[in-house]
Amino acid sequence: MWIKTTVVFAAVGALLFAAQPARAQSASGRVVEDAKYTSPYDAFMKMNRFREQFVGDEDAGDYWGFMESRLGNQAGRILIKRPAEGFSDDAFRGWMMFIRAYGDATGIGNCTACHTLPDFTDGQKHHIGTADEPVDTPSLRNLAKKKAFFHNGSAATLEEAIQRHVDNGRIARQDKRAGVEIEVGKIALTEKQVREVAAFLRSLEPVERSQFRDYLINVVIQPVELDFAK
Ligand code: HEC
Repeated sequence: MWIKTTVVFAAVGALLFAAQPARAQSASGRVVEDAKYTSPYDAFMKMNRFREQFVGDEDAGDYWGFMESRLGNQAGRILIKRPAEGFSDDAFRGWMMFIRAYGDATGIGNCTACHTLPDFTDGQKHHIGTADEPVDTPSLRNLAKKKAFFHNGSAATLEEAIQRHVDNGRIARQDKRAGVEIEVGKIALTEKQVREVAAFLRSLEPVERSQFRDYLINVVIQPVELDFAK
């Protein structure tokens, strides 16, 4: 088979073509070497060539608007790739809700309003209702080993920490005097969606570069479902 391919390439006189597999490999080698972060999520972003950070004075809403059109808003169904391991369909749905800053009904995380990309923190203090005053916004990378969440350890699991944001969002909408920021009030997630966002956060763990390369190579292709009420 290898020989046959070589003969065909020779027949079309295309030394260039013959050189292509090697070039493609060194290009993906560079992607692996140059990667600042090596989690399944980062492999997912790179394989789809999705923009990994905010630019200029872009905010959470601008980024979602940009990504929503990339994900095929009106154009019908588009296909995305995801790593076969480490980035489940739940994590993929969780990612979309994490960056979704507005829309109808549920499926809105608005998380990047404070956990901005690519570090998952804006480096600022925010009042999200876990204390009487604003608290430093932590990065959401490398949370797997943590045994408790928030500054006072008052959430035992990722699901609980996310659910607290959802519940405090209700406070932000109903009682401005409570001081909880309105960005928290934009969050609207069902219990199932909270679990999917948690699955996404679990895809933010760094891995060895050799495994990162495997994530980039072994991919699943699937359509995008942008109807979050389903
Ligand atoms: C208004 C800003 C803001 C928004 C919006 C926001 N967060 Fe947070 N988040 C924070 C702050 C501030 C903390 C720290 C709170 C504390 O320590 O008491 C935090 C803490 C967390 C933690 C705990 C991390 C740790 O190390 O303890 C998780 C998990 C988390 N956020 C996930 C999310 C998710 C998921 C969303 C979207 C559904 C979200 N956040 C939306 C500001 C925000």
